[in-house]
Order: sequence, then structure tokens, then C-alpha cells
Amino acid sequence: MRNRLKIFSGSAHPDLAKAICDYLDLPLGKMDVQRFKNDNTFVKIRENVRLCDCFVVQSSCPPVNHGLMELFIIMDALMRASARSITVVMPYFAYSRSDKKDQPRISITAKLVADLLETAGADRVITMDLHAEQIQGFFAFPVDQLLAAPVLCGYFQELGLANVVAVAPDAGSAKRTRYFAKRLNVPLAILDKRRHGNDDSSEVLHLIGDVRGHNAIIFDDEVSTGGSMLGVVKALQENGAQKIYGAVTHGILCGNAIEKFRDSQLEELVITDTVPVGPDKRIPKIKVLSVAHLFGEAIKRIHDGTSISALFEH
Ligand code: R5P
Repeated sequence: MRNRLKIFSGSAHPDLAKAICDYLDLPLGKMDVQRFKNDNTFVKIRENVRLCDCFVVQSSCPPVNHGLMELFIIMDALMRASARSITVVMPYFAYSRSDKKDQPRISITAKLVADLLETAGADRVITMDLHAEQIQGFFAFPVDQLLAAPVLCGYFQELGLANVVAVAPDAGSAKRTRYFAKRLNVPLAILDKRRHGNDDSSEVLHLIGDVRGHNAIIFDDEVSTGGSMLGVVKALQENGAQKIYGAVTHGILCGNAIEKFRDSQLEELVITDTVPVGPDKRIPKIKVLSVAHLFGEAIKRIHDGTSISALFEH
């Protein structure tokens, strides 16, 4: 059975693909991915995949559009080589914030990505902590959404902070943060954040809940420019919170986010390795936890036809 399971990696996050293979005790699938001088991508699968279940690891990180096109080409090559099934392992889902038409004349790009994956031959997607769970409905085939909660909560349980409050940085993340609060058995506070246009800036307007004298953990699905997180840090400080931590699944950390965090009052930002975190981003204040074992175990269970929900239980 195991020789019918193959893991391939695009160029987006080879370290994660390698860690997944190590967990599964499998070699990485052999494949050449080449970019010609005219910027066209060429893929050649260098081993037999006939009747194999192939998993392609390609997270969404810059250059995002190139990574997507490369993924489509890898899938096309696998399909033409008679793979039995193709599962896309996209730990951070591309364009997941473009999941609704909330302004006139804009695209729903996450839906477009879903359609393109289907056209390229995907049978299934494994991802982690989608910006909105409804994105699963963009697909006409199964989407297994893994949760970073066991890893993030495990870290804070070990840290053993007293008098903790779980903080949702905006109304949209209240449901998700309530889940963390329940898991950690701590109260919940919710902030009302408003975005200004499409320029990545935001403002905290109201706070619901009590943070005074508490150690606060801000839970979010992603941290990009850091603007939202640091706005929340400021609001929590103004309302009397003590130590403030961030717990985020996808640490995109673009622009000058690292400098902003280095100079901030945030005690520690805890992220996972769903996207690469290069040496330039590895400052003492940023803790990176691996989720490779969750993806490895999910792949094993999908291939064996067993349940993956057990991965999220206590
Ligand atoms: C937005 O709703 C998300 O949950 C994050 O809060 C947002 O993507 C973070 O972006 P930034 O770090 O650029 O403020």
C-alpha cells in the first residue's frame, strides 16, 4: 500500500515537504522543476506514478502567482503520468482573504483558485485554518481543513501563564477564538476592528470583555503586515492588559513586519511553519512551531482511509 503513496514538493516550501516526508518515513518524489529563460515553467516527474496517490505540497507564499502556476503544471504532469489521485497540500491557502464580494466590481479570487485547482486535476485539498471555513464550499470535492489549535494551545499550556484571556482581534475571528478559549479554559474578549479601504491598514474601535490585569493571547489566522496585531496590542495595553502574546497560524510577515514586532510591546509572537520563515524573520520574539506532523498524519490517514478528526481532539 505504502509504495502507492507519493509526496512531491513544489518550490514554495521544500522544508515543510521534507519534514512531512520525514514524519511518514518516505522519500520525496523525484521531479525536475525548471524555469526557462523565457519564464516558462517545465516539470518532469522522474519516477513512476501510475496508479499512485500523489500529494503535492505547495503552500501559498511569494511569489504567490508563480507558485500557483507551478502547482498547476506539476498536477498536469502527474495526471498525464496516470496518477490515481492528486491531493493538493496547501497549508496556507492562496488568496484566502479574497473570499467574498464585499465591494462593487471585485473578484472572489479564492473561488477562482478553487476552480483552477479542479481544472488542473485535483481530487482533494488539505489545508490549515482557512480565513473563512466557507471556502471549503468553493470546491466540488473534499477539503480537509487541519487546525493548528493543538500545536498553539499545547505551547501556551506548557508556558503555564496564569490569569489568561483569549482575544479575538475582530468580530470575524470571534468564533475561532472562542474555540481556543474553550480549549484553554480561559475567558474571551473580542475587539471590533475596522479596515480602511484596501491598503492593509485597520483601526480598533471597541473592546468587549475584561482584559485588565490579565495576560492576553491574541489568536488570528494570519499575520501579514502586523498592522492588525499591533493595533490590538495597543488597545489591550490601554485597557490594562499585562503581558500580551500573539498566536497565529500563518506567519506571512511581509513588508517591515519584523521591525514592527521587534520594536513592539508584544511579549512573543507564536506562529507555525505553514509558510517558510526565513532566517531574516527568526528574531527572539518570534517562536515558530512546526505543523509538519499534523500534515504527515493527515496524509497517512487519508491514504489509509481512516478518520482525521482524531487529530484535533484533546
Ligand atoms: C484579517 O481579517 C485576518 O484575520 C488578519 O487579521 C489579517 O490578515 C492580518 O493582516 P495584517 O497583519 O496585514 O494586519
